[in-house]
Amino acid sequence: MSKGRELFERYLQQRDAMDEGPVVLGQELTQMTRAHDGQTVRPSDRPSSRGVGRSKGGKWQDGAPEIPGPGIVVPPPASDLFTADELAGRDLEGVAELVRSCTRCQLSASRTNAVPGEGPSGAKLVVVGEGPGATEDETGRPFVGRAGELLTGILKSIGLPRDQVYICNVVKCRPPGNRKPQHEEIEQCVPYLHRQLEILGPKVILAMGGTAAETLLNTKQSLGSLRNVVHSFRGTPLVVTYHPAALLRNPNWKKPTWDDVRIARQLVDR
Ligand code: URA
Repeated sequence: MSKGRELFERYLQQRDAMDEGPVVLGQELTQMTRAHDGQTVRPSDRPSSRGVGRSKGGKWQDGAPEIPGPGIVVPPPASDLFTADELAGRDLEGVAELVRSCTRCQLSASRTNAVPGEGPSGAKLVVVGEGPGATEDETGRPFVGRAGELLTGILKSIGLPRDQVYICNVVKCRPPGNRKPQHEEIEQCVPYLHRQLEILGPKVILAMGGTAAETLLNTKQSLGSLRNVVHSFRGTPLVVTYHPAALLRNPNWKKPTWDDVRIARQLVDR
């Protein structure tokens, strides 16, 4: 029996025990069962959460959108005592060292510098992009080109200076010509990201763009359908929004991005 169904059955039994009369299958219950079954719940499906998670002060918060309902839930992996994982036990710098000497996929052959990620170990927000571009490859630092400048501005707009945020990517080496990373490259590289997130234990993850969202949530759903719900990555709230490079191409996405990042900010403050 699915988790949602099980919960529903328990709810019926409890009502029965309390002699509460007939059940009306309302929005809230539908949402609960669907969320527990790992389905995405659209904002229109859920009851209002007006006022939840608001903090006082800060311009970013003027007219900030309500915190949306739950989306995809990615549970933590079952631990395997027999796996000798070279990443286990490494701290952030230890992971970065491994990344810099990594040759697990073909991207290592064409890189100038690997780009492990940067930011404080106590960061409450982790931003995950797709992969380094030309400037990042030259410098070994994430999001320092044009898209990076925009990201810095976006973070500032929600009262988070860039140096308080951990910024990294799904793949740590530049795909030639800035093409999308291939499945095999992501598969080889993603354990570094998983370990970074495990070490950091942030309050919120902001997945910027389709590659970050699809990889972390293990889904093929479109970016549009993944926005405006709060997913859970191994217990950490995860918000999906557009990639800054996409915003440079399509300024119409700036407003929805502004909404998304303010939701992420509210979750950081919760
Ligand atoms: N785009 C990304 O996804 N990451 C970077 O670091 C730079 C551009």
